[in-house]
Amino acid sequence: MEAIRVGLLGAGVVGSGVVHVLKRNREEIARRAGREIRVVQVCARNLEKARQLVGDEVQVVADPIAMATSPDVDVLVEVIGGTTVAKDAILAALKAGKAVVTANKALLATAGNEVFAAARAGRVPVMFEAAVAGGIPIIKALREGLAANRMQWVAGIINGTTNFILSEMRAKRLPFDAVLKEAQRLGYAEADPTFDIEGVDAAHKLTLLSALAFGIPVQFDRASVEGISKLQAADIAYAEELGYRIKLLGITRKHAAGIELRVHPTLVPAKRLIASVEGAMNAVLIKGDAVGATLYYGPGAGSEPTASAVIADLVDVTRLFTADPEHRVPALAFQHDALAATPILPM
Ligand code: HSE
Repeated sequence: MEAIRVGLLGAGVVGSGVVHVLKRNREEIARRAGREIRVVQVCARNLEKARQLVGDEVQVVADPIAMATSPDVDVLVEVIGGTTVAKDAILAALKAGKAVVTANKALLATAGNEVFAAARAGRVPVMFEAAVAGGIPIIKALREGLAANRMQWVAGIINGTTNFILSEMRAKRLPFDAVLKEAQRLGYAEADPTFDIEGVDAAHKLTLLSALAFGIPVQFDRASVEGISKLQAADIAYAEELGYRIKLLGITRKHAAGIELRVHPTLVPAKRLIASVEGAMNAVLIKGDAVGATLYYGPGAGSEPTASAVIADLVDVTRLFTADPEHRVPALAFQHDALAATPILPM
């Protein structure tokens, strides 16, 4: 079967993760998707960097709209970030009947209603697993795994940079600025790190979780947002003395009168599971009426964790595109020859 052809918009931290993981795990991904997933075009702010990333076999394109609408591209993967070029390219791709996979929480939180309307009009999917909680499949959990539930609330640590900063400040008694620099070096922070430290990035993600949980339009402008920039080392130390950890939590809860949507530093008792979530890890609690409370934990930022989520969406899109019933459902990665080559070890 022919490969699904990806146009990759962005060759930064996430884009390079996508290229590397697609290459390294090519066989496994193709087996699960039913077809090979191949990057055929790439467009980035720095074309030379893009060229170095993908080598000579992939076409480097200067115009994002030309790539988004190219007849040689089936899916646009948008990992360039920002709300200008990304938005134009996504809307152009949807209009041209391409599926879109994006990691862009800022764009979806602020212009998601327009993007989702365009997707509905074009009858093509917009997938955004990578936009929330990095490598944790939280969108899938909400949309599919918990589809039977009336959601009651969602709460969690959904910004890796601030959790990394709070963890390092507490454990190593390091100053805020030094830890932020390290988070930037590790590729956790946004291009504009004030989005992280002022709680905006967490609010973007919470807005998407809230929309999914409660079936409402995205309403970022209604969120109440406070970040961690006013916290001092002494606050963290006092909290610890009293048996608490300070965590930047995003909380959305349904009440009879409406929906809470808030991000702020929160005192969490140290014995709670979520209090022990350290570094750039994320953790999300979801309470549904049927299932009760469920907890999802994993890396919330970084190149390959985010690429993992982008590629999961690509696998889903590939299955949606296939006319072959065998490949419309997730394949069991089961092969008789593989079984012989990889036996279960006796214990
Ligand atoms: N800046 C974000 C974070 C990246 O730190 O969580 C992942 O969305």
